[in-house]
Amino acid sequence: MSEHSANPSATAAAGRPRAVKAVIPAAGLATRFLPATKAVPKELLPVVDRPVLQYIVEEATQAGISDVLLITGRGKTSMVDHFDRRPDLEERLAKKPELLAAVKRTEELAAIYTCRQPEQLGLGHAVGFAESHVGDAPFAVLLGDEFVKPSEPLLPAMLELQARTGGVVLAFFEVDPAETSRYGIASVESTGDEFAGLAEVVKVTGLVEKPSAEEAPSNLAVLGRYVLPGRVFDAIRRTEPGSGGEIQLTDAMEILRNEGVPVHAIVYRGTRYDTGMPLGYLQTVVQIAAERDDLGAEFRKWLADFVNSDASGGPST
Ligand code: G1P
Repeated sequence: MSEHSANPSATAAAGRPRAVKAVIPAAGLATRFLPATKAVPKELLPVVDRPVLQYIVEEATQAGISDVLLITGRGKTSMVDHFDRRPDLEERLAKKPELLAAVKRTEELAAIYTCRQPEQLGLGHAVGFAESHVGDAPFAVLLGDEFVKPSEPLLPAMLELQARTGGVVLAFFEVDPAETSRYGIASVESTGDEFAGLAEVVKVTGLVEKPSAEEAPSNLAVLGRYVLPGRVFDAIRRTEPGSGGEIQLTDAMEILRNEGVPVHAIVYRGTRYDTGMPLGYLQTVVQIAAERDDLGAEFRKWLADFVNSDASGGPST
């Protein structure tokens, strides 16, 4: 029995180990949310009563990953505090079991590790800092400002696919062709039923970071979830500055693809929340609030009344 097959849940059908660590690059300055993000990391902006970052860590733990490395930057230490113990607070909440459970949940979710990216030189550069933590094993990358609906998970299928291929596994979603310059964009071909039983899987035949609408090879955009083999670190070291003068993860993956590493993607048709910009953040808050068991019904009623009122600029009755 191999070292890995002792834990069946971490071993895919092909016998290769599944990724067991996640990396969350979260060192960015979040200029789109200034001045709110002058002292508060954007990853800690609340969506109802939990910060964005907690939804992201929960997405990892829901997929069976409980080792999470946060790549942080100056002024962002409070992100780590969110997952630390607070004995003083726990003591005060002794008679409020629901709140106490909510606080303890943040402490028990995952083992959180951190390292600093001293200068923000791009997503590829940030991921490169994870090398000493993950070594040469495959690992997941979850970008710190987007997450998917827990009832429509994406990561488990990506982990399974990566264990089958041993290569790079991405996820795509379809964007308006006018928006390609905000994302990594792929050209793809079908894999037929090669990955029977998994979600829609495509083979990636090209990747380009933030192309204009004219240059974009498709409207399939890279979603902020990646499962990468350890050799990506070597590719990152060989990646020249690209779009925006930054060391792009997309370009490092394109180096691997050109060297024969298989690159596949799952086309995600579920709900993706993008909190990276004020409009997407507001939409996320409204959607999640509207679906909450505790306040959804009241909030939806208020929202419908508001939208139909003079105050919102909507139709008056
Ligand atoms: C990053 C990636 C891009 C990807 C996007 C998803 O861009 O570089 O390829 O499509 O995340 O949100 P950023 O949003 O950091 O500019």
